[in-house]
Amino acid sequence: MKGIILAGGNATRLRPLTKVTCKQLLPVYDRPMIYYPINTLVSSGIRDILIIVAPTYSGHFLNLLGSGKEFGANFSFAIQDSPRGLADAFIVGEDFIANDNVTMILGDNIFDQDFSKEIKSFKSGAMIFSKQVPDPERFGVVEFDKNHKVINIEEKPQKPKSNYCVVGLYAYDPRCVQYAKELKPSARGEIEITDLNNRYLRGGELKVNLFDGLWEDAGTFDSLIRVSNYMASKQNKLKK
Ligand code: G1P
Repeated sequence: MKGIILAGGNATRLRPLTKVTCKQLLPVYDRPMIYYPINTLVSSGIRDILIIVAPTYSGHFLNLLGSGKEFGANFSFAIQDSPRGLADAFIVGEDFIANDNVTMILGDNIFDQDFSKEIKSFKSGAMIFSKQVPDPERFGVVEFDKNHKVINIEEKPQKPKSNYCVVGLYAYDPRCVQYAKELKPSARGEIEITDLNNRYLRGGELKVNLFDGLWEDAGTFDSLIRVSNYMASKQNKLKK
């Protein structure tokens, strides 16, 4: 299993914090945001990690993270020239993925949970994670039939069919590269991970794991301060 951290994008919602740096380098309590997704992958036993960054501050990531030795991992870096969508990570990462399975985590997604059991037992197809949230319209949303079977995933629906959102942690077999190449850009001009997940779903090969631990997409001022406070109180409890 290989790992990808997607840390591209312009983070316009966090201006002026992101005027001279990247979102994923901003502090979450006592460490840069990207340390958390790195830790999620490394603690799931993933060692080979491709970090995909936007061109502008790419050097900062190299300076901060280096070879990955400090984290017990091997880091490679790739540039995403423009934010073409989450599924584009598999096109950028084609050579890196080669014929292996891959777990992708978004560089601004923060968890406080161990996913090693699910990730280590992943064999083929696709696997996503979903959690109940109060504001599902901001995310990919899982639709279930009356027997609780997953029947569709919708990207940022105006009228969500459930409050189960798809979080930014996904595992795929190597077919994700070809499937990503076949996706058509959405109305926002991006190739959507939701369309990739639906492709696996239509083939009967999408597993959805529900979970209930902490998760934040730290892309807004409010979620950034919430997750910083959460990590601060967790660390302070550990010190006591
Ligand atoms: C992306 C995905 C969405 C997912 C979310 C998780 O949204 O498109 O399906 O629920 O990440 O953070 P975006 O960050 O592009 O708004």
